[in-house]
Formats: sequence, C-alpha cells, structure tokens
Amino acid sequence: MKNFDINNIRADFPLLKREVNGKPLVYLDNGATTQKPQVVIDALVNYYTDMNANVHRGVHYLSQISTDAFEVTRQKVQSFINAEHDYEIIITKGTTDSINLVAQCFGQAFIDKDDEIIISAMEHHSNIVPWQMLCDAKGAVLKVIPMNDHGDLDMEAYKALLSAKTKIVSVTYVSNSLGTINPIEEIIALAHSNNTPVLVDAAQAVQHIALDVQKLDADFLVFSGHKMYAPTGVGVLYGKEKWLNAMPPYQGGGDMIKDVTFEKTTYNELPFKFEAGTPNIEAGICLAHAIDYINEIGLDAIQKYEDDLLAYATAEILKIEGVRIIGTANKKSSVLSFIVDGIHPYDIGVILDKLGIAVRTGHHCAQPVMAQFEIPGTVRASLAMYNTKEDIDTFIKGLQRAVTMLK
Ligand code: ALA
Repeated sequence: MKNFDINNIRADFPLLKREVNGKPLVYLDNGATTQKPQVVIDALVNYYTDMNANVHRGVHYLSQISTDAFEVTRQKVQSFINAEHDYEIIITKGTTDSINLVAQCFGQAFIDKDDEIIISAMEHHSNIVPWQMLCDAKGAVLKVIPMNDHGDLDMEAYKALLSAKTKIVSVTYVSNSLGTINPIEEIIALAHSNNTPVLVDAAQAVQHIALDVQKLDADFLVFSGHKMYAPTGVGVLYGKEKWLNAMPPYQGGGDMIKDVTFEKTTYNELPFKFEAGTPNIEAGICLAHAIDYINEIGLDAIQKYEDDLLAYATAEILKIEGVRIIGTANKKSSVLSFIVDGIHPYDIGVILDKLGIAVRTGHHCAQPVMAQFEIPGTVRASLAMYNTKEDIDTFIKGLQRAVTMLK
C-alpha cells in the first residue's frame, strides 16, 4: 500500500477524536458526508485569513491569488478523473446541482416529445426527479432498468430498453442505499452502441474507486466535494467538450457572459458558460486539498482497505440473529444497509446514537429502492478510509445491545 497508515490517517481528522453522548465517536455515516482532514480545514481558514476575494473579476492581488487557487482545483479535478481538458470540468454546488444542470441544458437541446430517458431502479432521488421534471416539461418518457433482489441491475432488460428513442442514460456507479457497484463500463458501451450518451452519478464512487472518464468513455460524470473529504457546497460536472458546447447555459448571470446589451447577450466559453455567479470559492479551493490528500494515500490502497473492512463488517453483522442485509450484489462498495426483524430502523439508529455511533436510518433518498424491498427504510453503516475494525466491533456490539433492548 502507498501510504496507508490507519493511525496516521485517523490523526489527520480532528473530529474523530471527539466524544458523542459521553462515548468515543464511531462515525459510520460517510455516505451522507465525510469528515475533513486538518489540511482541508487549514485551507478553509487560510482562505479567509489570507486571500478572501472574488474570483475571475479583479485585477487586484487578492482576486488574482484566489482565482489562481480556484483554478488549481479545476486542474486537480481534471487529472484526478483523467479528463482530456480542464474546461470540461464545471464547478457546481454538488451532485444534485450537476445532474439538474445536465437535465435542464441537455434536455433543452436534445429532448423532444416521446423521447426516452433511461435511469435505474437504484437511483438516488437526485437522479430521478430532475429527469421526471424534464419529462413533464417535454412530454418525454422515463424508463427504468430493473434490478433483482440482490441489488444487481438486469442487464438484459437494459439492452431491451435501449432504442432509437433513447436520448440519454443516467445511472449511478455505486448505489447509496445498497452499495452495489454497477457495471458502468458495460452500461456505457451498450449505450454508445445505440448512439446514446451516458451520465454517471459518481457521488458514492469518487471517494472509493479510481475514476478515469476517458477510459470509461463517460459523456458526463458528477460528484460532490463533501463526500470526498472536502467541504459542502462544491461539486463537479465533467462533460465531454462536444456535449457541453452543444448545450445552452444553465443559469444567467455574471461570469457566464462575454458581452451583454439589452438587445443580446453572447455567452462565455467553457467552462464559464455554466458557472454563473460567485462560486463557493473557499470550498472549491479546499477540494484541491482533499484531492491531494486522497492522492497521497492512493485510491487503490483506500479501496482495498475499505473492501476488507466491508467484508469484515458483513461477516460480523450476519452473526446477529434477525439481521437481513439489504443489498447483496456481487460487487459492493462501503455500504452496509440492513434491517432487523420486527424492529424499526429508526429505533436502532436512536440507540446507536446514544452509544456514540453515527449511522443513517430511513429511505436514504431512494424511496423506490425501499418500495422494491417492501420496507420503510434501512439502517445504513457507510465506511470511509478512516474507519477501523474497532469501529466495526463497537458498532456490532451496540447493534447487539439495541436488538436485545428492542426485541
Ligand atoms: N446522498 C446522501 C446519502 O446517501 C446524502 O446519505
């Protein structure tokens, strides 16, 4: 492993040292958001103590250095996901913002009545609702790739859905509620053989699996900073130049224009055409530091460590009577979703919290997934590189205690 030293990694995350309800924190809600390493926190403070100014606007020194720092992020993201050009990286507010941007702008340019859009049965609401809104506006039709009860997509059904009417496929790489790693290369290749572009929702993949948009041949790929150790309020839309150039802008405002008169506005070039208004500059700058941090440890090492931890947690949880894991796909990443016979997930979450253990309970913004499994929700433990076997042991012990109390 590159530099994978779990003690050093944990020491980099100050929040992990705190107590919750008088117990040492065990943080297992990383699918919702990750904690931040000191280098990211320092970069945030440094921005406000040393360089705060608006970007892309001023000739003055502070504006120059904050613009330079912000643009470094674009280049870091470019190399992190191996995009061909830095102007194919659009800095957004997050995954939801990125998907809405594509749904609106691609939709305006390329979707007409009776066209079809394909998503999958395991999408987060943020990869369902924007497409439904587009379908409503245009009279287009949403098609859904079904999945089996393990949480694996039915690829034969997907092939059968693809047709001349299919204008875009938008699918998650890793499911936030089940942990399934989808066969994204195959999904993209099949869509391309149908001349259909693909959006990859990488919100739950980017912090666990090394991404290469050119190798994947993804047309669009989106993710959030806060799930990869950066602050909230910043995210990424990668788009192939040919698509981004063919799409109208998302929002109007400063920065996205070349010239404005009351008669006519000409738009700026990529990437600024899609970046109206003052961005979340400090979060953007911090994203570069988060990427450096991840790169220093290495995503291959992180993935191997997290896979081993998930296998350990899975084996341990199955020792508890009445536990049913929701999401038993062939390939999974970092998510352990489960229910316990006769106990509401919320009650388990409350007792775990009293023990200092943070998990997420509920539908995880994936209500159609819960509907398929005919459950109200799950308890979800989601892992990050700083979790340990000791975290898992504490969680399993706490869960055993909750089950005993609630049965
Ligand atoms: N999408 C985030 C989650 O899965 C918030 O928890």
